[in-house]
Amino acid sequence: MKKQNIYLLAIESSCDDTSAAVLCNDSVLSNVVATQKIHEEFGGVVPELASRAHQQNIVPVIDRALAKANIDKNQLSAIAFTRGPGLMGSLLVGTSFAKSMALGLGIPLIEVNHMQAHILAHFISEKGFNKPSFPFLAMTISGGHTQIVLVRNYFDMEILGETLDDAVGEAFDKTAKILGLPYPGGPLVDKLAQIGNPHAFAFPRPKVKGLDFSFSGLKTSILYFIQKEVSKDPNFITQHKEDICASIQHTIVGILMDKIKKAVKQTGITQVAIGGGVSANSGIRQALKEAEVTLGWQTFIPKFEYCTDNAAMIGIVGYLKYLEGNFSDQTVTAKARYIIP
Ligand code: KG4
Ligand code: ZN
Repeated sequence: MKKQNIYLLAIESSCDDTSAAVLCNDSVLSNVVATQKIHEEFGGVVPELASRAHQQNIVPVIDRALAKANIDKNQLSAIAFTRGPGLMGSLLVGTSFAKSMALGLGIPLIEVNHMQAHILAHFISEKGFNKPSFPFLAMTISGGHTQIVLVRNYFDMEILGETLDDAVGEAFDKTAKILGLPYPGGPLVDKLAQIGNPHAFAFPRPKVKGLDFSFSGLKTSILYFIQKEVSKDPNFITQHKEDICASIQHTIVGILMDKIKKAVKQTGITQVAIGGGVSANSGIRQALKEAEVTLGWQTFIPKFEYCTDNAAMIGIVGYLKYLEGNFSDQTVTAKARYIIP
C-alpha cells in the first residue's frame, strides 16, 4: 500500500525573520522568508520592532507559502512552530498564530526547538546534498548562536560546547560596525577578506576551556587596535580594509576550527555538519574542505536557504515528530530560553 503523504505548514518567528514553509514529507514545497529591513538602520535587531514586524508579516507570509506550494490549508496534516529559543515578543507571534490555526483546522500542533532545527535541516531531502549519518558533530554558527553538538539520533543530542558571550556572527557584525560597514556586516567582511592578506595583522585568540567559545574579548581587541591605528593615521581603515577583514576572518575561522578539531579528537567522530548564517563564510567553507582532504573528515553544509533562519528547518523537525506522534497541546507556551531537550 502506498504511504499517505504528510503536508506540514511550518512557522518560524524567533528573531528578525518571519518565515513559513510547506513540506510534503521531508521535501520542501515552499520556504518563504520575510527579512525585516527595519533593523539595518539600528545596526542590530530591535526586539520591540521585530515583534511588530512579525505581526504585520505573518499572514501574508503564510499565504504566500501555501500558494507557492499549491496547497490548500484544508490539506494540511499538522502545523509546526518555533517554541524557542529566541526573542519572547517574536516567539509569541508565531506561537499564538500556530496554536490558533491548528485549533481552527482541527489538526495536530508540533512545537520545535530552533537549535535542534538548525541541526536537523541536514535531513531535508534536497538534490545534490548528502545527509550525515549518526552519530555526527554539528556546529551551529550564526548571529545568535555558536554551539557544538553531538548528535546521536534525531532527538538525542548533547551540547558539547557553546559561546559564553557573543555569537560568532556578532563578532563579524561588530567588526563590520567598527569598520563603518552596514549591518549585517558578516557577508561584507567575507567579501573584503577574500582580497586581503590574512596574515597582515595578528589578533589574540581567546583562551577558553573545553569546547566553549568566547568572542567578546576579540571584539574589544579589534576595537582597541583600530582606535590606536586610526589615531596615528586617520586613513588607516580605508587603506587597509581588506587586510583587516582578512586578518579578522582568519582569526575567527581559526577559533572555530580549533574547537571543532578538538571535538573530533575527543569523540572520534569525523562527520562534521555545520549550519547557521555564518556557514556562508568562504573561510570556514575552505577550512572544512581542507579538513576533508588532510584529516579525512566528511563535512556537510545544507543549502544556504536552510542555513539562515527559515521555516523549512522547522518543518523537517515537525515531520520527524509527526512520524513519532509527538504533538503539543493547546497550553504550550513560547520559551525564550529553551535548551536542546
Ligand atoms: O542564521 P542567521 O541568518 O540568523 C541568526 O543570527 O540566527 O545568521 C546571520 C548571521 C549574521 O551575523 C551575518 O553577519 C552572518 O550570519 N553571516 C556571515 C556571512 N553571511 C552571513 N558571516 C560571515 N561570513 C558570511 N559570508
Ligand atoms: Zn537561528
